[in-house]
Amino acid sequence: MASICWALLLFLAMFSGLATSHTHGDDNPTLRCHPDQAASLLQLKRSFSFFRYPSALDSWQDGTDCCLWEGVGCSNSSGYVTALELSGRGLYSQGLDPAIFNLTSLQLLDLSLNNFGQCNLPATGFERLSLLTHLNLSTSGFQGQIPIGIGKLANLISLDLSVLYYAASDDSLNGHGTSIPGVTSWLCLQEPNFQILVGNLNNLRELYLDGVDMSTSADDWCDAFANSLPNLRVLSLRYCNLVGPICPSLSTLHSLAVISLQDNFDTSATPPREMLMYSYNLSFLQLAWTNIQRGFPSRIIQYKN
Ligand SMILES: *[C@@H]1O[C@H](CO)[C@@H](O)[C@H](O)[C@H]1NC(C)=O
Ligand SMILES: *[C@@H]1O[C@H](CO)[C@@H](O)[C@H](O)[C@H]1NC(C)=O
Ligand SMILES: *[C@@H]1O[C@H](CO)[C@@H](O)[C@H](O)[C@H]1NC(C)=O
Ligand SMILES: *[C@@H]1O[C@H](CO)[C@@H](O)[C@H](O)[C@H]1NC(C)=O
Repeated sequence: MASICWALLLFLAMFSGLATSHTHGDDNPTLRCHPDQAASLLQLKRSFSFFRYPSALDSWQDGTDCCLWEGVGCSNSSGYVTALELSGRGLYSQGLDPAIFNLTSLQLLDLSLNNFGQCNLPATGFERLSLLTHLNLSTSGFQGQIPIGIGKLANLISLDLSVLYYAASDDSLNGHGTSIPGVTSWLCLQEPNFQILVGNLNNLRELYLDGVDMSTSADDWCDAFANSLPNLRVLSLRYCNLVGPICPSLSTLHSLAVISLQDNFDTSATPPREMLMYSYNLSFLQLAWTNIQRGFPSRIIQYKN
């Protein structure tokens, strides 16, 4: 009798061990999307019109694994959506549907080259995407104030809110002073200003704000970048209506490799000589159509390494 009990216990122990290893070791390669994540994505899809590419996002169908949908990436371990890459899908929407802010595991969000109808970015919501490392809203037809929530994304490595106005090559520099074709509205930095926007983005390596109106910001823009963004490698501020000089402290950013400041007509004429002396990693400096260029030998104005 005792031996039967032992055998039974042993069997139960083995069975439960097997059962445990089955659930825990179940690294099923078939990714399973979480229903709430699928619901958020489908809500986002419903907010889009598909004028240009009617079959865009066809794979986004209820009841299928959202981790396999076009442009969607999931974490292998958790199954949560970590990437949304929808650049240039011809999507049109009157503004960004807040359902996107329920995808709180997102690390990469790229909505560039779509059309959000010259609407404002949602005033709240971005702060919920606290794991974001890459945010790209370039040339997507948003206008108005950049929301403070973006300045709270402390994990950001790359932030692109630019308008690609020189669509072709550097030859189109000749077109300076003309408005960007098709662009009737602009993002701007007033409240928050750029000091507040970048204050917490200490991990940022690439910052593209070309075409963002900073004309109302104070003239210490340069110190704000130098003090807040120690890891910056690319700073692109073309056509931002910057006022105030380039500052010597920019030279303390030893990783800075690219500075692009063209088309800021009111930038002070103070030549940033220290920057050139100390920023040995600098490989590209674009200052055309700023007053700064007067302080430089012409070969440096558009200098590529
Ligand atoms: C996720 O799983 C897929 C398929 O099993 C595999 O190809 C890919 O390398 C995995 N990615 C990571 C980051 O482990
Ligand atoms: C987003 O989350 C909120 C609160 O958790 C919920 O009420 C709402 O239904 C969600 N929206 C979508 C589209 O999942
Ligand atoms: C953002 O998207 C635009 C358009 O797709 C692309 O040209 C640009 O390189 C992207 N920015 C970053 C920082 O990757
Ligand atoms: C160049 O940048 C790298 C990091 O990107 C840094 O380790 C190195 O010290 C920099 N070199 C100089 C001369 O500043």
